[in-house]
Order: sequence, then C-alpha cells, then structure tokens
Amino acid sequence: MAANDSEDNASPDGDPLRYATDFHAPVLSHDVQARLVTASGGRYVDATLGGGGHARSLLDALGPDAVVLGIDQDPDALATARDRLAEAREAGCFRAVRGNFGDLERLLRAEDFVPVDGILLDLGVSSHQIDAPERGFSFQADGPLDMRMDPRRGLTARQVVNAWPERDLREALRDYGDERRAGRIAHAIVEARPLDTTGDLADTVRGAVPPPDEVKTLARVFQALRIVVNAELDMLERALEQSTAVVRPGGRIATISYHSLEDRRVKRYLRYGNFEGTPRRDLYGNRVAPWTETPRGPIEASEEEVAANPRARSARLRVAERQDDEEMGPPVP
Ligand SMILES: C[S@@+](CC[C@H](N)C(=O)[O-])C[C@H]1O[C@@H](n2cnc3c(N)ncnc32)[C@H](O)[C@@H]1O
Repeated sequence: MAANDSEDNASPDGDPLRYATDFHAPVLSHDVQARLVTASGGRYVDATLGGGGHARSLLDALGPDAVVLGIDQDPDALATARDRLAEAREAGCFRAVRGNFGDLERLLRAEDFVPVDGILLDLGVSSHQIDAPERGFSFQADGPLDMRMDPRRGLTARQVVNAWPERDLREALRDYGDERRAGRIAHAIVEARPLDTTGDLADTVRGAVPPPDEVKTLARVFQALRIVVNAELDMLERALEQSTAVVRPGGRIATISYHSLEDRRVKRYLRYGNFEGTPRRDLYGNRVAPWTETPRGPIEASEEEVAANPRARSARLRVAERQDDEEMGPPVP
C-alpha cells in the first residue's frame, strides 16, 4: 500500500515531466525534493546522477550555500549532467565524480564530503542506457551483448551468456529475473552458443518460450543479466551500509527501487539495519535501528505521473531519517 495518495505527490507546477530531458525523465522528483531536503544550506549526494534531473530538482530546492555532489559510473551520464548543470558547477553548488556507489564512503571521503545531509539512490538504468543499442541493454534493438553501466568493468553479458555453466545461468535467471522457465531458457542459450548480439539472445529466448509470454520473459531475462553484469544487488547493499556511516543524525536517505529484489533489500535495511529483516533490541527491549522510515512504507507515483512517464509505474520511493547512535543505545549482543 502506498504511503501517500496521488494528490500529495503531484509536482508543484502540475507537470511530472518538469525535469525530464531526452536523456532521462526522473520519477517522483517532487517527492524526493520535498522529503530529502531538510537543510537548505546542506550537502547532498545524488549517487545515481544519470541525466541530472533529480540533481537539478534538488538544487532548485536548496539555497546558494548548498552543494550537491553527483556520482555515476557511466561516463555518458556524467558528461550530460555536467553540461546540464554547468551554471551550478561554476557557482560551486554542484560537482560530479565518476565512481560506483558501492564505494560511496571512499568516494565521499576523497571529496572531503562527509558527513552529508542526504543521499539519493535512484536505482537501475537510465532511459539513455536502454535507448542506446550499442550499450546492449535492450531486447528491442540489436546491439552487442554488453550491458555494462561502467564500460571499464570486466564482465559483459557476452561472457555470462557464452561462458557460464548452464546451472549458473539457470539460477541467475530464476533468482534475478524471477523467471519460472529459467531451466528451459538456460538450456536453449547453451545450445545456441556462441551468441553475439542482443538480437541473437532475444531470438533464442523467443524460440524457447512461446507467445504470448515472450515480451515479459525477455524483460525478465535481460533484467537478470543486467543485475549480474553490474553486480547491482551487491552494490546496493554496500551503498546502504555505507550511507549509515556518512549521513549525519537527522539527515535522510531517499531510494527509488524498480523491482522487488531492490525494494526488499532497501525496506529491510531501512527498517532493521540489516538485510535479513531481523529486529534488534536494546537492554530495555526498545527497537535499535540506524534509520527510521518516514513515512513508513513506499511512496508511489500518481496516476498522472504514470500516464506521462510509464517508467514511474514500478517505482517505489522510500525515505528514512538517520537516528542518533547514542540515543539508540547499544544493541543486545
Ligand atoms: C535511473 S538512472 C538515474 C537518473 C537520474 N535520477 C536522473 O534524474 O536523470 C540510474 C543511474 O545510476 C547509475 N548507476 C546505477 N548503478 C550505479 C552504481 N552502482 N554506481 C554508480 N552509478 C550507478 C546508472 O549509470 C544511471 O545513470
């Protein structure tokens, strides 16, 4: 159940595409802006800078002394956002660094940017990444089997598809794509080797799964491979844990997830401070957790936003406030 209704999250000027560009249309930008910013002169991190839409919206909500630091592992995103936010950069309100948010703490310390007042994680891929056939993320266009958000990373989808044992492929499709015909598809992939392009992979999956299910199946297979190639869930867990070390007490984190594998991890960590979802209590029986979700539960896009930007349909925004460790007291071992 969403924590707010559609009226609450309409953008202030009524246009949910206010911060959209051809590169990417950010989702829930008004909610992020309204709920993440608690200090108008503060320091904020957009750890998934993309085309700079959310960063722009944060800068619009912040005062002239505030600084937004953007992080992205994709050089196309950095170049685009730096260009878009050139004025803020010149004014000293915006900077951008290339890196993986799995190294969040190290990146921020290197920039002398700890503690911070807030962090945004808008997970997954940008529209630009999906739309560029040469990046290999899409089953709707033919391109190399790549799928790396960071082109410097070693592992490509081509290696996974052509070299992984059938059993590992099957597990990846099942665990990261929630694909119930993972066995049949993994077997077809192994039989069809070598696969060269996204078109080869899409044809192989189509051959293994009869219509009318093929589009949903293709989406699940491509999602699973993308998660593997970019180690997305590991990086998310690392970023969440490190955010606890860099956000000041009273500061906030906002995360936007697009599927349940992400959202489950975010929910458990923000509620319990661990990924198992195990409540911890102090000597007096009080709950001990580094974050308090505010509001409790996900915020979803309005019908108006989903109509304008279909990508918003699956988005789940969670916001949490960093608790004071001393007030929490030590957990019972
Ligand atoms: C959904 S888009 C963000 C769009 C952005 N909020 C905007 O308004 O344009 C996600 C971005 O995060 C980046 N990204 C994903 N995982 C990352 C990671 N582990 N480290 C750094 N950047 C990452 C992607 O390259 C992509 O540009």
